[in-house]
Amino acid sequence: MQKKLREGHVLLLSLFCLSSLAFSWSQDNLFNQAKNYEGSSDLVDLQYHMGPVLAAPVSLYIIWYGRWNQNHQATIRDFIYSLSYSSPYPSVADWWRTVRLYTDQTGSNVTGNIVLSGEFSDSRYSHGGYLSRLAMQSIIKSAVNAHPRALPLNPHNGLYLVLTSGDVQVQDFCRAVCGFHYFTFPTIVGVTVPYAWVGYSGTQCPGMCAYPFAWPKYSGKPPPSTNGGNNIMRAPNGDPGVDGMISVLAHELAEVSSNPLINAWYAGDDPTSPSEIADLCLGVYGTGGGGGFVGKVYKDYWGDGYNVNGVKGRRFLLQWVWNPVKRRCFGPNAID
Ligand SMILES: *[C@@H]1O[C@H](CO)[C@@H](O)[C@H](O)[C@H]1NC(C)=O
Repeated sequence: MQKKLREGHVLLLSLFCLSSLAFSWSQDNLFNQAKNYEGSSDLVDLQYHMGPVLAAPVSLYIIWYGRWNQNHQATIRDFIYSLSYSSPYPSVADWWRTVRLYTDQTGSNVTGNIVLSGEFSDSRYSHGGYLSRLAMQSIIKSAVNAHPRALPLNPHNGLYLVLTSGDVQVQDFCRAVCGFHYFTFPTIVGVTVPYAWVGYSGTQCPGMCAYPFAWPKYSGKPPPSTNGGNNIMRAPNGDPGVDGMISVLAHELAEVSSNPLINAWYAGDDPTSPSEIADLCLGVYGTGGGGGFVGKVYKDYWGDGYNVNGVKGRRFLLQWVWNPVKRRCFGPNAID
């Protein structure tokens, strides 16, 4: 399932935001996808495999695993609120419009309504400081058992997010993945619900998972930017770890919504390593992006990079996703 990384690709690959995947993500895939990027399309055979998308309004539940900084939590909540509330164009909600273009066989689009409906702090590290991928399901189970009011088990329209703090190690985290999404097994959780995990990378591997706010140490210098110069981009909410995490979270939310049971929208023949709608646009944040270039994004007064606006005057840098109508990677900050 998980292909071995070919040695020679390490340096090149690390320049692209290594992010996530549904089930298991191989860095070989990433390398191949690097060629696709902003540009077109003939090589991308994104297909619909007849399964559902998240078409009903989503109740989102967050499990904060480990010890969390309250400012980081507030930034992440504001990002989630920004998905469904309008903000000045180009906004997070405008960015989500591309995800809404995906439909299921009943003709229903991905919802534009994602409501933060419950939170639980697992500050006692209920499953320890090293987590397997599968442990995420047990963490969800423990949380819904312990606090059914704050965190109900909602099989109708629930979507669960497990967010791990910087001191928690996760299988494949910082090596092959920065986040992933999947669905729970009834034998563990009692029902099948979609979920995603994203780790805070600020201490463990910002160069890999908080790109482009950090870069791999061994590459020697930050990735070149199309805005000129080699200056590392500053994080719009003041912390590379959390701003990088938000782009990974956006990536996972786009994919879990368009492919919640790994039988809806993905490219490639192998459902155990699908290329999903955000995988196709890794490392692309603006026009001209790809191949190690972020693309055209904005800089605020302080020199922080961003490409979309959110609630409460916040700004975020989100990677683009594949637009099935234009047949290319797209975001609302596109200039063409
Ligand atoms: C639903 O998806 C279809 C097909 O991509 C698109 O034409 C339509 O505009 C979408 N509707 C919304 C509300 O996004």
